[in-house]
Amino acid sequence: MPVRTIRLSDYRNYKRNFFEFDPHLNIIIGKNGTGKTNILESIIVVSNTKSYRTNNDADLIRKGQEYARIILNTPDKEYKVVINKKGKSLYIDNSLVKRTSQFIGEVNAILFKPSDLELFTQSPGERRKLVDIEVSKVSKTYVQSLLRYNSLLKDKNRLLKELEIDELLLGVIEESMAPMIKIILDERKKFFAIINRHISDYYQLISGKDSEILVTYKKCCEIEDVEDKIQDAKEKDRYYHYTTFGPHHDDYSFYMDGYELNSIASQGQKRMVLIAFKFALMRYIQYMSSVTPIVLLDDILSELDKENQERLLNIIPDDTQVIITNTDIKNLNIQKKYKLIELKEEYDV
Ligand SMILES: Nc1ncnc2c1ncn2[C@@H]1O[C@H](COP(=O)(O)OP(=O)(O)O)[C@@H](O)[C@H]1O
Ligand SMILES: [Mg+2]
Repeated sequence: MPVRTIRLSDYRNYKRNFFEFDPHLNIIIGKNGTGKTNILESIIVVSNTKSYRTNNDADLIRKGQEYARIILNTPDKEYKVVINKKGKSLYIDNSLVKRTSQFIGEVNAILFKPSDLELFTQSPGERRKLVDIEVSKVSKTYVQSLLRYNSLLKDKNRLLKELEIDELLLGVIEESMAPMIKIILDERKKFFAIINRHISDYYQLISGKDSEILVTYKKCCEIEDVEDKIQDAKEKDRYYHYTTFGPHHDDYSFYMDGYELNSIASQGQKRMVLIAFKFALMRYIQYMSSVTPIVLLDDILSELDKENQERLLNIIPDDTQVIITNTDIKNLNIQKKYKLIELKEEYDV
């Protein structure tokens, strides 16, 4: 479902603002610091129930204020996120939603941003976060299993730090972990299989080159070996006083024509691999939920040359809602019809 309107109250630099979007192409223009990214971020907050720019929700509240509010309307529903210093509340059509899993992915958006490039050099934990967020948007079982697994993991690690370990309790925790691990592995495997079905095609479409891109999932073990691996790790877990085996160590890496991406690709090529990865992600979401995500392109087009810009825009299906930000419309090579949203510098902040 496309975003029709957004109302922001005391959110980031916005006091009380209203934005209206076209169901197809939108371009937000404004100088640096005028709040372009803040608008896209507010859509992501509704999509994922949290920001990608901060782990502290209170950062989203306009300085000096008590709470922030985002109201996002699609043609058939109203989504509201109210953030105060202690936490946040989620509403759909004015009814309070108690479980995050019932809110995540209702509005489905994919953000392309320059700092995505960090994915290739970030820690495995950061890379996993991206997968966890996307899979959570389309699989409630995944969100629930992941939450349960993380809570069991905490319990297990706490137990492993004790001087005298309660063996019975440890056994119960480990037994409860196994089915969660299997669901997590299974969903992540599916995720990478679908990404690999599409990523090379998109890379070729954007770059005009015929390189093969592969994302390899470095998983903790095969699904059928989970119980054995938990047993095998017992001694090591005790030695290190934490859980050494499990999907909380999973990672993935990118290859281009058989070579590790970081070792051969130029900055420009990496950028295009990432864009291809995001498009493959869109296909994954479409495949899993039959929803076409909203495409948010934050300052990304002006980093590409005109030819690649045009290719990228042509890949996006016509029925997709797209919101592009840029400092100047002159840097963009856009042939399609679009709605222009111009942000003025703020005088009242
Ligand atoms: N909690 C907040 N309260 C008030 N202003 C904020 C808050 N968080 C960020 N800002 C302001 O938002 C502006 C940055 O907005 P941003 O969307 O990143 O700009 P752009 O993408 O247009 O360059 C900055 O001026 C920053 O000071
Ligand atoms: Mg910005």
